[in-house]
Amino acid sequence: MSKTNLDLDQFRLRRFIESLSAVDEVDIHDEPCDFADLAAIMQGNPKAVWFRNVGKDKQELVGNVVAARSRLALAFGVEPRQVALEMQRRLRLKPEIVELTREEAPIQQVVITGDALDLTQLPIHLQHAADGAPYMAAVDFVIDPATGLTNSGYRRLMLRGKREAGVDLNAPSDLRAIYMAASARKERLPIAFVVGGHPIDLVSSTMRVPVDELGLVSSLRAAPLPVVKCLTSDIRVPADAEMVIEGYLDERGYVEKEGPYGEYLGYYGGVKMNPVFHVTAITHRRDALFLTATISGNRMDMTDTSNLEALRAELNVWEALKPVVREPVAVYAPVASGGSMSVRISLRQRYPGEARTALYTVLGSVGVKNAFVVDPDIDIFSNEQMEWALGTRFQPDKDLIIVSGVRLSPLDPSLHGSPTGAKAGYDLTWPMAQATKWELTTPTPPTYEGARFPTLRAALEDGPKRFEALMAALGSRDGREIVRQLDELRDQGLERDDQGRYFLK
Ligand SMILES: Cc1cc2nc3c(=O)[nH]c(=O)nc-3n(C[C@H](O)[C@H](O)[C@H](O)COP(=O)(O)O)c2cc1C
Repeated sequence: MSKTNLDLDQFRLRRFIESLSAVDEVDIHDEPCDFADLAAIMQGNPKAVWFRNVGKDKQELVGNVVAARSRLALAFGVEPRQVALEMQRRLRLKPEIVELTREEAPIQQVVITGDALDLTQLPIHLQHAADGAPYMAAVDFVIDPATGLTNSGYRRLMLRGKREAGVDLNAPSDLRAIYMAASARKERLPIAFVVGGHPIDLVSSTMRVPVDELGLVSSLRAAPLPVVKCLTSDIRVPADAEMVIEGYLDERGYVEKEGPYGEYLGYYGGVKMNPVFHVTAITHRRDALFLTATISGNRMDMTDTSNLEALRAELNVWEALKPVVREPVAVYAPVASGGSMSVRISLRQRYPGEARTALYTVLGSVGVKNAFVVDPDIDIFSNEQMEWALGTRFQPDKDLIIVSGVRLSPLDPSLHGSPTGAKAGYDLTWPMAQATKWELTTPTPPTYEGARFPTLRAALEDGPKRFEALMAALGSRDGREIVRQLDELRDQGLERDDQGRYFLK
């Protein structure tokens, strides 16, 4: 695609947020707010929150943008249940990168360098009561010196002053590995933090794939990706995002105490040693919209982090099931569990044992702790239906798998510091040999379909019939007269079979 055909606003965050108001998915605050008020308004808010008058400089920021599957679905233009499948489809699309000049790139309309650089001028607020300092989250891009490929992730930056921030690089990640190699060589690692990308770009950043991750953004957008080179490094970033904070992680390694952070499983992460980020330039659109991410609290279903985590888990589960299950029907990671702690799978079993195979596969290959598998009649997106399946289709001594001594998220507080933990698989499917029993079909209201007969006797002589079929046979809209007629036939050979159907001997 040529540059002239590119719409540099199509994937703009501000456009996306504006589109949310038409569908009542954004809570707009035009009244003056202090930075101190923002966390309480955002935490547990079911909508995206758009503040337009914050602090003494009347700054603007938006948060909670992807903290609901409904909004992620709007970003991808599909139904909420289809998002992971749509991602799977898009990941097969060939990426296309279009390089823009500095003059062409909206993200470089305003350039801040030198003495004017000041991270404390950005609209960053204190998120949780025990956090070490205000922090923001942004999508980082680095070039891996070993491969030349661009790596991307979503990471938090905790303010340390005008020119420095801490970056939490303790969890296993590609960036951690790249940074540890650089600092072992006593080298700085140039890095660019993009603030205010389209939700699809945020989803893309949470994936870990061994490809150039700029290409991943293009594939997931299903569109060419405009990029521009940073001012102070060779890193290329999406040119249509709102802002980029350029700089480097210094060569000293894990040298500074940082934290605590409210973490994505709903608890605090303690103080840790972390690398230090130094800012070298900030560039942004003229009317840049600053983005913050919601991370913690006790309603994980309403945080950005868990919603992104859940999608990633679903995608990984679909991939893992491919070689072992012939007919997976649906996959859902219930976001309230913390994003990827639990996953639900429905499948149509073709062979005995497929459900268990699915459980072992998912527990072994994907970072989920509890996996549930059900038959396709259960709606895995419904908590009520899942409770019903757990209550009625599960025998703990036969249907529970526990694997122990495995790796879990180190942030899982129930590990109490242990390096390994346990996972569980819940087989809520019917054993195949039992599944065809009529007693296991779900009762539904009667529909009265069936052949008509002139009399009850004629209907019964035709063959055994349920009460519903007898009502249909006589066109009854009441039923109680049939009870009376059946009573009269009791001494004339009326019988019942083991399904309760009536017939005449
Ligand atoms: C909002 C948000 C904030 C995150 N913050 C961090 C963080 O501070 N440190 C970290 O290691 N991972 C963080 N993650 C998880 C990483 O972004 C994720 O594991 C990513 O896939 C890592 O990419 P990489 O392995 O390509 O470097 C965060 C995720 C989200 C959604």
